[in-house]
Amino acid sequence: HNNENFYTYELIQSIAKFLLDRINIRPKIGIICGSGMGTIADSLTDRHIFPYETIPHFPVSTVPGHEGRLVFGCVNGIPIMCMQGRFHYYEGYPLWKCAMPIRVMKLVGVTHLLATNAAGGLNPDFEVGDIMIIKDHINLMGFAGNNPLLGVNEDRFGPRFPPMNKAYNKKLREAVHGAAKDLNMSSIVKEGVYSVIGGPNFETVAELNMLRICGVDAVGMSTVHEVITAHHCGMTVIAFSLITNKCVTNYDDHSEAKHSEVMEAAAERAPLIRSLVSKIVSYIDEN
Ligand code: 6GU
Repeated sequence: HNNENFYTYELIQSIAKFLLDRINIRPKIGIICGSGMGTIADSLTDRHIFPYETIPHFPVSTVPGHEGRLVFGCVNGIPIMCMQGRFHYYEGYPLWKCAMPIRVMKLVGVTHLLATNAAGGLNPDFEVGDIMIIKDHINLMGFAGNNPLLGVNEDRFGPRFPPMNKAYNKKLREAVHGAAKDLNMSSIVKEGVYSVIGGPNFETVAELNMLRICGVDAVGMSTVHEVITAHHCGMTVIAFSLITNKCVTNYDDHSEAKHSEVMEAAAERAPLIRSLVSKIVSYIDEN
C-alpha cells in the first residue's frame, strides 16, 4: 500500500468538480445499490448517468449484477447521488480505492449515506427476503490489519483515530423501523450485526460457526469499508442488508451459497426495497 498510490484530497476534489460541472442537481443523500438492487437507481427521475469508465480516476466494477455507474437523479423530487454497482476488495482493489467514491460523495455535498447489500443470514431467526437494518459491524479485515483509512490521514476528511461506536445512526435506524411499519413490512425488517469477509469465496461451516459465536447476524463482502470512510468524514450513515440466503452452518446440509440465488432473492424484493428507500429518503429530507 504505497502512499504515492493514495488518492489526494485535491484529486478527489477534481473528480467532484468533474461531476458537478456536468449536472445541475446538488444531492445531499448518497445511495449504494447492493447486488441485485440496481433498480433503486433505475427508478430515479431526471437521471444523469456516468459509467465508471467515463469518470477520471474511477475504478471499474467487475461483478455480474453490479452495473458500474454513478446515477444522479431524484426520489420524490429529492436529489440523490447513487452508486449503481460498488467496489469490493475481492475485485483486487485496495480498500481505500474501493471506498474512494464515498469521499467523492462528500465533496459533492452529500451529508447522508444509505448503503445496501445482499448478505447471508446467520441468525437462525432470519429468513430469505428479510431486511436487516445494520446496527453495528465486525470488521474482520480490520482485525487482520486492512482498513480503508490506512496511510497518512487526510485531516480535511476526518480525524486520525475516528470512533466507530456510533457509526450507524440510531435516529435513522428507528426511522427505518417506522417506515417499515407504514409499509406493513415490519415482520420482515430485523436489526443486527453485519460482518464482512474479504471474499470472493463464501464462508466455510467452521468460519460461520465462529462468526455466530461472535454475535454476527449476517455476513457479506462489502459495505464496512464504505461506512468507515463515510463516518470518518462526518456523514450520517444508515445501512441495511437484504438476506438473500441462509448460511449453511451444518455439515449435513447439502445446500450451497451461490450468486444466482443471491440475485434471485434480490430481484424478488426489489419493489419493497424501492418503497422502503423512498420512505427513508423522504425522512432524511424532512429531518
Ligand atoms: Cl452467505 N456470505 C457472504 N460473505 N456474502 C454473501 C452471502 C454469504 N450471501 C450473500 N452475500
